[in-house]
Amino acid sequence: NPALPLAGKRVLVTAGGTMERIDPVRYITNDSSGKMGYAIAEAAKRLGAQVTLVTGKASVAVPAGIEVVPVDSTMDMLEAVLDRFDDCDIVIKAAAVADYRAARPSDKKIKKKDERMTLELIKNPDILQTLGERKTKQFIVGFAAETDNGELHAMDKIRRKKSDLLVLNDVTVPGAGFGTDTNIVTVFDESGLVVALPQLSKREVAERLLVLIAERLKARGGSD
Ligand code: C5P
Repeated sequence: NPALPLAGKRVLVTAGGTMERIDPVRYITNDSSGKMGYAIAEAAKRLGAQVTLVTGKASVAVPAGIEVVPVDSTMDMLEAVLDRFDDCDIVIKAAAVADYRAARPSDKKIKKKDERMTLELIKNPDILQTLGERKTKQFIVGFAAETDNGELHAMDKIRRKKSDLLVLNDVTVPGAGFGTDTNIVTVFDESGLVVALPQLSKREVAERLLVLIAERLKARGGSD
């Protein structure tokens, strides 16, 4: 069915921002609204897929008709994704993952004391890279939000994280990136530029991206 290019496919989408606890009332997070990832989950469903959305903190309503798995921290997101990875055909990692977490989160509220205080952070595992190393049949798509040298970073990421596609958005351009309803993205594969899309609604970006993914999966011979 050409109207449902993802019929029979299992799609896992991560979205939103992960949240790293410092103490019971404080945490570190980022500006992710979840809009792009949620739009991808909705578009995947419209195109016929069975969709699971693993979501961190987001400021938009969760889409209807989609299995939603809420998570807080990066470690939680990693676990939720790994639990479901083997059954997936496509994984799209639109989440803004916190690169670091508190080395020793406190179980009591931290008291104000000295003029200066130091919070020690340790590196989180890279979920996308972990999946890239484990993939068998899965088609993996990463996102990158960059402010400079976007293409260079995108190509480095796609190789390092063994993704099949990488979607770059320049977060310095108005109408792109965090919080907006539109996005301007450039898509890369391991050999370079695939397509540079104009400014479009996140809904439209999501649909174009999924159609591209469906075509690539089909070209692999994994489809009917
Ligand atoms: O390296 P950077 O954070 O720019 O890479 C962005 C991509 O990697 C996104 O797809 C994001 O979801 C993913 N990522 C991840 N785990 C991390 C950091 C980023 O899965 N710890």
